Amino acid sequence: MTATLAPDDAGIAEAARLLRQGELVAFPTETVYGLGGDARSDHAVARIFEAKGRPSFNPLIVHLPDLAAVEAVAIVGPVARDLALAFWPGPLTLVLPLREDAGVSPLVTAGLSTVAVRVPEHPLAQRLLRAFGGPVAAPSANPSGRVSPTRAAHVLEGLSGRIAAVLDGGSCAVGLESTIVLADPDTNSHPVLLRPGGLPLEALEAALGRPLGMAGDAGKPTSPGQLASHYAPEAGVRLDAVTARPGEVLVGFGPVRGALSLSESGDLVEAAARLFQTLREADRLAGPAGHIAFAPVPERGLGRAINDRLRRAAAPRG
Ligand code: TXA
Ligand code: MG
Repeated sequence: MTATLAPDDAGIAEAARLLRQGELVAFPTETVYGLGGDARSDHAVARIFEAKGRPSFNPLIVHLPDLAAVEAVAIVGPVARDLALAFWPGPLTLVLPLREDAGVSPLVTAGLSTVAVRVPEHPLAQRLLRAFGGPVAAPSANPSGRVSPTRAAHVLEGLSGRIAAVLDGGSCAVGLESTIVLADPDTNSHPVLLRPGGLPLEALEAALGRPLGMAGDAGKPTSPGQLASHYAPEAGVRLDAVTARPGEVLVGFGPVRGALSLSESGDLVEAAARLFQTLREADRLAGPAGHIAFAPVPERGLGRAINDRLRRAAAPRG
Protein backbone atom coordinates (compact mmCIF):
# COMPACT_ATOMS: atom_id res chain seq x y z
CA MET A 1 0.00 0.00 0.00
CA THR A 2 1.03 3.60 -0.41
CA ALA A 3 2.79 5.08 2.65
CA THR A 4 2.29 8.70 3.65
CA LEU A 5 5.67 10.10 4.72
CA ALA A 6 5.97 13.03 7.12
CA PRO A 7 7.85 16.16 5.97
CA ASP A 8 10.81 15.56 8.31
CA ASP A 9 14.31 14.06 8.10
CA ALA A 10 13.03 10.50 8.52
CA GLY A 11 10.39 10.98 5.82
CA ILE A 12 12.92 12.45 3.38
CA ALA A 13 15.41 9.65 4.09
CA GLU A 14 12.74 7.01 3.47
CA ALA A 15 11.60 8.71 0.25
CA ALA A 16 15.21 8.83 -1.02
CA ARG A 17 15.73 5.17 -0.08
CA LEU A 18 12.61 4.15 -2.00
CA LEU A 19 13.74 6.12 -5.08
CA ARG A 20 17.14 4.39 -4.91
CA GLN A 21 15.34 1.06 -4.93
CA GLY A 22 13.53 2.01 -8.15
CA GLU A 23 10.22 2.68 -6.38
CA LEU A 24 7.88 5.59 -7.14
CA VAL A 25 7.42 8.43 -4.65
CA ALA A 26 5.07 11.39 -5.06
CA PHE A 27 6.51 14.63 -3.66
CA PRO A 28 5.42 18.25 -3.41
CA THR A 29 6.82 20.97 -5.62
CA GLU A 30 5.69 24.60 -5.56
CA THR A 31 3.62 23.93 -8.73
CA VAL A 32 1.91 20.56 -8.25
CA TYR A 33 2.82 17.18 -6.72
CA GLY A 34 5.20 15.18 -8.92
CA LEU A 35 5.23 11.41 -9.38
CA GLY A 36 8.95 10.78 -8.98
CA GLY A 37 11.15 7.93 -10.12
CA ASP A 38 14.89 7.51 -10.78
CA ALA A 39 15.38 9.11 -14.23
CA ARG A 40 18.38 6.83 -14.89
CA SER A 41 16.32 3.65 -14.51
CA ASP A 42 14.34 2.42 -17.54
CA HIS A 43 12.31 0.24 -15.21
CA ALA A 44 11.42 2.99 -12.74
CA VAL A 45 10.42 5.32 -15.59
CA ALA A 46 8.30 2.62 -17.24
CA ARG A 47 6.51 2.22 -13.91
CA ILE A 48 5.71 5.95 -13.86
CA PHE A 49 3.79 5.54 -17.14
CA GLU A 50 2.15 2.40 -15.80
CA ALA A 51 1.04 4.07 -12.56
CA LYS A 52 -0.45 7.02 -14.46
CA GLY A 53 -2.11 4.78 -17.03
CA ARG A 54 -0.79 7.09 -19.76
CA PRO A 55 -1.83 5.97 -23.22
CA SER A 56 1.32 7.47 -24.75
CA PHE A 57 4.96 8.08 -23.80
CA ASN A 58 5.08 11.86 -23.46
CA PRO A 59 8.56 12.99 -22.48
CA LEU A 60 8.95 13.74 -18.77
CA ILE A 61 10.57 16.59 -16.84
CA VAL A 62 13.82 15.79 -15.02
CA HIS A 63 14.03 17.43 -11.59
CA LEU A 64 17.41 18.49 -10.19
CA PRO A 65 18.50 20.50 -7.14
CA ASP A 66 20.50 23.25 -8.89
CA LEU A 67 22.03 24.53 -12.12
CA ALA A 68 25.28 22.61 -11.55
CA ALA A 69 23.31 19.34 -11.41
CA VAL A 70 21.38 20.36 -14.55
CA GLU A 71 24.68 20.83 -16.40
CA ALA A 72 25.49 17.14 -15.91
CA VAL A 73 22.35 16.24 -17.87
CA ALA A 74 21.80 19.05 -20.41
CA ILE A 75 23.79 21.57 -22.42
CA VAL A 76 23.06 25.00 -20.98
CA GLY A 77 23.66 27.73 -23.57
CA PRO A 78 23.84 31.47 -22.81
CA VAL A 79 20.11 32.22 -23.12
CA ALA A 80 19.18 29.21 -21.01
CA ARG A 81 21.74 30.27 -18.41
CA ASP A 82 20.23 33.75 -18.18
CA LEU A 83 16.76 32.25 -17.64
CA ALA A 84 18.09 29.72 -15.13
CA LEU A 85 19.87 32.42 -13.13
CA ALA A 86 16.75 34.59 -13.15
CA PHE A 87 14.12 31.95 -12.30
CA TRP A 88 15.65 28.86 -10.67
CA PRO A 89 14.69 27.51 -8.28
CA GLY A 90 11.13 28.11 -9.44
CA PRO A 91 8.24 27.17 -11.76
CA LEU A 92 10.24 27.22 -15.02
CA THR A 93 11.10 24.14 -17.10
CA LEU A 94 13.74 24.48 -19.83
CA VAL A 95 13.93 22.12 -22.80
CA LEU A 96 17.63 21.86 -23.64
CA PRO A 97 19.94 19.62 -25.69
CA LEU A 98 20.53 16.33 -23.89
CA ARG A 99 24.16 15.64 -22.99
CA GLU A 100 25.43 12.43 -24.55
CA ASP A 101 26.72 11.22 -21.20
CA ALA A 102 23.59 12.30 -19.29
CA GLY A 103 22.74 8.74 -18.29
CA VAL A 104 19.02 9.51 -18.46
CA SER A 105 16.68 6.73 -19.61
CA PRO A 106 15.52 7.21 -23.22
CA LEU A 107 11.96 6.72 -21.93
CA VAL A 108 12.29 10.06 -20.09
CA THR A 109 13.00 11.94 -23.32
CA ALA A 110 10.80 9.71 -25.52
CA GLY A 111 13.97 9.11 -27.53
CA LEU A 112 14.42 12.84 -28.34
CA SER A 113 17.78 14.60 -28.34
CA THR A 114 16.43 17.24 -25.96
CA VAL A 115 15.53 16.98 -22.27
CA ALA A 116 13.15 19.02 -20.11
CA VAL A 117 14.82 20.08 -16.84
CA ARG A 118 13.56 21.94 -13.83
CA VAL A 119 14.89 23.08 -10.45
CA PRO A 120 11.92 23.22 -8.07
CA GLU A 121 11.85 25.70 -5.24
CA HIS A 122 9.76 23.77 -2.71
CA PRO A 123 12.00 23.04 0.32
CA LEU A 124 10.88 19.39 0.54
CA ALA A 125 11.58 18.85 -3.17
CA GLN A 126 15.00 20.43 -2.65
CA ARG A 127 15.76 18.23 0.35
CA LEU A 128 14.56 15.08 -1.41
CA LEU A 129 16.61 15.77 -4.56
CA ARG A 130 19.74 16.40 -2.48
CA ALA A 131 19.19 13.30 -0.33
CA PHE A 132 18.60 11.13 -3.42
CA GLY A 133 21.57 12.63 -5.28
CA GLY A 134 20.39 11.86 -8.82
CA PRO A 135 17.95 13.06 -11.49
CA VAL A 136 14.26 12.48 -10.70
CA ALA A 137 11.76 12.12 -13.56
CA ALA A 138 8.36 13.40 -12.46
CA PRO A 139 5.13 14.10 -14.29
CA SER A 140 2.22 15.45 -12.30
CA ALA A 141 1.10 12.81 -9.77
CA ASN A 142 -2.37 12.13 -11.18
CA PRO A 143 -3.83 9.37 -13.33
CA SER A 144 -3.70 10.28 -17.01
CA GLY A 145 -6.50 12.62 -18.03
CA ARG A 146 -7.25 13.87 -14.49
CA VAL A 147 -6.36 17.18 -12.95
CA SER A 148 -2.97 17.72 -11.37
CA PRO A 149 -2.82 17.22 -7.57
CA THR A 150 -1.95 20.07 -5.22
CA ARG A 151 -2.32 18.14 -1.93
CA ALA A 152 -1.11 14.73 -0.75
CA ALA A 153 -4.74 13.64 -0.37
CA HIS A 154 -5.33 14.33 -4.10
CA VAL A 155 -2.36 12.12 -4.95
CA LEU A 156 -3.79 9.30 -2.85
CA GLU A 157 -7.25 9.66 -4.40
CA GLY A 158 -5.77 8.91 -7.81
CA LEU A 159 -2.75 6.71 -7.16
CA SER A 160 -3.18 4.96 -3.80
CA GLY A 161 -1.89 1.40 -4.08
CA ARG A 162 -0.06 2.19 -7.33
CA ILE A 163 3.00 3.97 -5.86
CA ALA A 164 5.25 3.28 -2.85
CA ALA A 165 4.75 6.55 -1.00
CA VAL A 166 3.71 10.17 -0.97
CA LEU A 167 5.75 12.78 0.90
CA ASP A 168 3.16 15.01 2.53
CA GLY A 169 4.05 18.67 2.14
CA GLY A 170 0.61 20.23 2.48
CA SER A 171 -0.75 22.27 -0.39
CA CYS A 172 1.26 23.60 -3.33
CA ALA A 173 1.70 27.37 -3.45
CA VAL A 174 1.55 27.88 -7.24
CA GLY A 175 -0.99 25.18 -8.09
CA LEU A 176 -0.30 25.36 -11.83
CA GLU A 177 2.32 23.33 -13.70
CA SER A 178 5.61 24.97 -14.61
CA THR A 179 6.02 27.19 -17.66
CA ILE A 180 8.00 25.31 -20.35
CA VAL A 181 10.46 27.13 -22.60
CA LEU A 182 12.47 25.55 -25.42
CA ALA A 183 15.96 27.06 -25.34
CA ASP A 184 17.92 24.85 -27.71
CA PRO A 185 20.65 26.96 -29.34
CA ASP A 186 21.05 24.40 -32.15
CA THR A 187 17.50 24.50 -33.41
CA ASN A 188 16.30 27.92 -32.27
CA SER A 189 18.11 31.21 -32.24
CA HIS A 190 15.34 32.39 -29.98
CA PRO A 191 13.56 30.69 -27.07
CA VAL A 192 10.01 29.42 -27.60
CA LEU A 193 7.14 29.07 -25.11
CA LEU A 194 5.93 25.44 -25.23
CA ARG A 195 3.49 25.52 -22.30
CA PRO A 196 2.18 28.48 -20.33
CA GLY A 197 2.31 27.80 -16.60
CA GLY A 198 3.14 29.06 -13.16
CA LEU A 199 5.82 31.53 -14.29
CA PRO A 200 4.15 34.43 -16.12
CA LEU A 201 5.15 35.17 -19.70
CA GLU A 202 5.68 38.83 -18.79
CA ALA A 203 8.36 37.88 -16.25
CA LEU A 204 10.18 35.77 -18.84
CA GLU A 205 10.05 38.46 -21.50
CA ALA A 206 11.23 41.10 -19.03
CA ALA A 207 14.26 38.94 -18.15
CA LEU A 208 15.02 38.24 -21.82
CA GLY A 209 14.49 41.83 -22.89
CA ARG A 210 12.51 40.65 -25.95
CA PRO A 211 9.38 38.68 -26.78
CA LEU A 212 9.37 34.88 -26.61
CA GLY A 213 8.60 32.81 -29.68
CA MET A 214 5.26 31.03 -29.45
CA ALA A 215 4.78 27.36 -30.24
CA GLY A 216 2.79 27.34 -33.47
CA ASP A 217 4.56 30.33 -35.07
CA ALA A 218 5.99 29.65 -38.52
CA GLY A 219 8.95 27.32 -38.21
CA LYS A 220 8.30 26.68 -34.52
CA PRO A 221 7.09 23.42 -33.01
CA THR A 222 3.33 23.56 -32.46
CA SER A 223 3.27 21.59 -29.22
CA PRO A 224 5.47 19.53 -26.97
CA GLY A 225 3.52 16.47 -28.06
CA GLN A 226 4.46 17.09 -31.66
CA LEU A 227 8.11 17.05 -30.79
CA ALA A 228 7.65 13.60 -29.35
CA SER A 229 6.86 12.28 -32.83
CA HIS A 230 10.24 13.37 -34.19
CA TYR A 231 12.11 10.22 -33.37
CA ALA A 232 11.12 7.75 -36.03
CA PRO A 233 13.38 4.95 -37.17
CA GLU A 234 15.05 5.23 -40.57
CA ALA A 235 13.89 1.74 -41.45
CA GLY A 236 10.33 0.97 -42.53
CA VAL A 237 8.17 -0.51 -39.76
CA ARG A 238 5.53 -3.26 -39.98
CA LEU A 239 3.29 -4.16 -37.04
CA ASP A 240 1.54 -7.33 -35.84
CA ALA A 241 4.20 -9.59 -37.31
CA VAL A 242 4.65 -13.16 -36.13
CA THR A 243 7.47 -14.11 -38.49
CA ALA A 244 10.16 -12.08 -40.25
CA ARG A 245 9.92 -11.58 -43.99
CA PRO A 246 13.21 -11.69 -45.92
CA GLY A 247 15.41 -8.73 -44.96
CA GLU A 248 13.30 -7.77 -41.93
CA VAL A 249 14.55 -7.45 -38.36
CA LEU A 250 11.80 -8.98 -36.21
CA VAL A 251 11.35 -7.58 -32.70
CA GLY A 252 9.58 -10.20 -30.65
CA PHE A 253 7.34 -10.04 -27.60
CA GLY A 254 6.42 -12.98 -25.39
CA PRO A 255 6.13 -16.18 -27.46
CA VAL A 256 6.99 -14.42 -30.75
CA ARG A 257 10.79 -14.69 -30.94
CA GLY A 258 12.85 -12.37 -33.13
CA ALA A 259 16.38 -11.06 -33.56
CA LEU A 260 15.51 -8.80 -30.61
CA SER A 261 12.68 -8.91 -28.09
CA LEU A 262 10.82 -6.25 -26.13
CA SER A 263 10.23 -8.85 -23.42
CA GLU A 264 10.66 -12.59 -23.80
CA SER A 265 8.44 -13.18 -20.78
CA GLY A 266 5.70 -10.90 -22.17
CA ASP A 267 6.11 -8.37 -19.34
CA LEU A 268 4.72 -4.97 -20.40
CA VAL A 269 6.78 -2.98 -17.86
CA GLU A 270 9.96 -4.59 -19.20
CA ALA A 271 8.80 -3.98 -22.78
CA ALA A 272 8.18 -0.29 -22.08
CA ALA A 273 11.54 0.03 -20.34
CA ARG A 274 13.28 -1.42 -23.41
CA LEU A 275 11.17 0.23 -26.12
CA PHE A 276 13.32 3.19 -27.18
CA GLN A 277 16.66 1.44 -26.98
CA THR A 278 15.19 -1.51 -28.91
CA LEU A 279 13.86 0.83 -31.64
CA ARG A 280 17.35 2.26 -32.05
CA GLU A 281 19.01 -1.14 -31.95
CA ALA A 282 16.59 -2.56 -34.55
CA ASP A 283 17.14 0.53 -36.72
CA ARG A 284 20.90 -0.03 -36.58
CA LEU A 285 20.56 -3.73 -37.42
CA ALA A 286 18.16 -3.05 -40.31
CA GLY A 287 20.21 -0.24 -41.86
CA PRO A 288 18.72 2.80 -43.63
CA ALA A 289 17.03 0.86 -46.44
CA GLY A 290 15.94 -1.97 -44.14
CA HIS A 291 12.71 -3.02 -42.48
CA ILE A 292 11.68 -3.69 -38.91
CA ALA A 293 8.72 -5.87 -37.94
CA PHE A 294 7.16 -5.81 -34.47
CA ALA A 295 5.34 -8.70 -32.85
CA PRO A 296 1.86 -7.87 -31.51
CA VAL A 297 1.77 -6.27 -28.06
CA PRO A 298 -1.50 -6.57 -26.10
CA GLU A 299 -3.60 -3.39 -25.96
CA ARG A 300 -3.82 -3.20 -22.15
CA GLY A 301 -1.89 -1.40 -19.39
CA LEU A 302 1.42 -0.10 -20.74
CA GLY A 303 0.70 -1.97 -23.98
CA ARG A 304 -1.51 0.96 -25.06
CA ALA A 305 1.40 3.42 -24.81
CA ILE A 306 3.78 0.96 -26.47
CA ASN A 307 1.35 0.45 -29.36
CA ASP A 308 0.79 4.19 -29.68
CA ARG A 309 4.55 4.67 -30.12
CA LEU A 310 4.85 1.74 -32.53
CA ARG A 311 1.93 2.98 -34.65
CA ARG A 312 3.62 6.36 -34.93
CA ALA A 313 6.89 4.67 -35.89
CA ALA A 314 5.01 2.72 -38.59
CA ALA A 315 2.98 5.67 -39.91
CA PRO A 316 3.70 6.81 -43.48
CA ARG A 317 6.38 9.50 -43.54
CA GLY A 318 5.63 12.92 -44.97
O1 TXA B 1 5.13 21.80 -12.71
C1 TXA B 1 5.46 20.84 -13.41
O2 TXA B 1 6.04 21.00 -14.49
C2 TXA B 1 5.11 19.44 -12.90
C3 TXA B 1 5.90 19.22 -11.61
C4 TXA B 1 5.72 17.85 -11.05
O3 TXA B 1 7.27 19.48 -11.84
N1 TXA B 1 5.40 18.43 -13.88
C5 TXA B 1 4.66 18.29 -15.02
O4 TXA B 1 5.03 17.23 -15.82
O5 TXA B 1 3.74 19.02 -15.33
P1 TXA B 1 4.14 16.64 -17.02
O6 TXA B 1 4.76 15.31 -17.37
O7 TXA B 1 2.72 16.62 -16.65
O8 TXA B 1 4.42 17.62 -18.20
C6 TXA B 1 5.63 17.56 -18.89
C7 TXA B 1 5.55 18.37 -20.16
C8 TXA B 1 4.76 17.66 -21.24
O9 TXA B 1 3.89 18.57 -21.87
C9 TXA B 1 5.86 17.22 -22.20
O10 TXA B 1 5.42 17.07 -23.50
C10 TXA B 1 6.90 18.33 -22.02
O11 TXA B 1 6.87 18.57 -20.66
N2 TXA B 1 8.25 17.88 -22.37
C11 TXA B 1 9.05 17.08 -21.68
N3 TXA B 1 10.21 16.85 -22.33
C12 TXA B 1 10.13 17.55 -23.46
C13 TXA B 1 11.01 17.74 -24.57
N4 TXA B 1 12.20 17.14 -24.64
N5 TXA B 1 10.60 18.53 -25.58
C14 TXA B 1 9.39 19.14 -25.51
N6 TXA B 1 8.52 18.99 -24.51
C15 TXA B 1 8.88 18.22 -23.49
MG1 MG C 1 0.40 16.52 -16.16
